[in-house]
Amino acid sequence: MAEKTKSNLPAAEAPLTRRPRAVVIGASTGMGAAITRKLAAEGYLVAALARSKKTLDALCAEINAASGETRAIAYAHDVTETAKVSAAFQRVLKDLGGLDLLVYCAGVMPKVELDEFSLEKDQAMIETNLTGAIAWLGQGAALFQRMGAGHLVGIGSVAGDRGRVLNPGYNASKAGLDTYLEALRNRLTKLGVHVLTVKPGFVDTEMLKSTPRTFGVISPEKLADGVWKAIKARKQVVYIPWFWRFIMLAVRMVPSFIFRRLSF
Ligand SMILES: NC(=O)c1ccc[n+]([C@@H]2O[C@H](COP(=O)([O-])OP(=O)(O)OC[C@H]3O[C@@H](n4cnc5c(N)ncnc54)[C@H](OP(=O)(O)O)[C@@H]3O)[C@@H](O)[C@H]2O)c1
Repeated sequence: MAEKTKSNLPAAEAPLTRRPRAVVIGASTGMGAAITRKLAAEGYLVAALARSKKTLDALCAEINAASGETRAIAYAHDVTETAKVSAAFQRVLKDLGGLDLLVYCAGVMPKVELDEFSLEKDQAMIETNLTGAIAWLGQGAALFQRMGAGHLVGIGSVAGDRGRVLNPGYNASKAGLDTYLEALRNRLTKLGVHVLTVKPGFVDTEMLKSTPRTFGVISPEKLADGVWKAIKARKQVVYIPWFWRFIMLAVRMVPSFIFRRLSF
């Protein structure tokens, strides 16, 4: 994690006006950047993490200039370096002075050919989309369990609902994240902690460029609005846009002997 100067930190606030605090992992582009902007606009102080520090710095500068005060702080962090996650989490916690919401958004989806089986690509997806998520969500879960409060949000995908021909490693990483979040929810809901699984359809980001066929594409801003509404409503699982819930219900019901004949 990169060193930050003290001047980046927000001025001390009066105890009665405490700002809610969030960390967004995978905040530099796409949905993560849109969610960071949305949370800052909703009054949060946000720690924004990703590898591209320059992009994060520009994002935070834009947010802070628009609000006239520090609402977003940039941290360089690579989620595949899991040995550094605990220290990064503690650093964020100390800088923000607490935490109310953790959003795990980091993800990769390299292009995989239909006849390709690349351990290197599959490993990159598992390490970023799943192991990194477990490392960060686990830190948040331990803290929120002690607090008896807090929101944990994981950006999964409709791709986690069924194994498809296009990218088995991506499907597996998102299915693993889905099950991990469900297990966290079953542990933590009774303690007052909210766990939200977000399953986007197609969102207009850099990642979508490696997807051959798309429809019903939405903007990252629309996705961020949906995530925010789901957090406020303490939803458990949300498909964005909503119609994906029905598409995936139908897709999950297709028997395997038919499903394997489809190019879906
Ligand atoms: N776009 C879609 O249609 C779609 C649909 C369903 C689900 N999703 C999921 O949505 C999430 C966000 O993706 P996106 O569409 O917004 O794509 P994106 O613009 O490519 O964003 C991916 C984010 O993950 C970060 N990231 C990647 N590897 C990282 C690493 N090793 N350490 C830290 N951060 C890392 C990237 O930042 P750096 O490169 O700066 O590190 C970036 O901020 C992903 O989990 C993706 O699987 C996307």
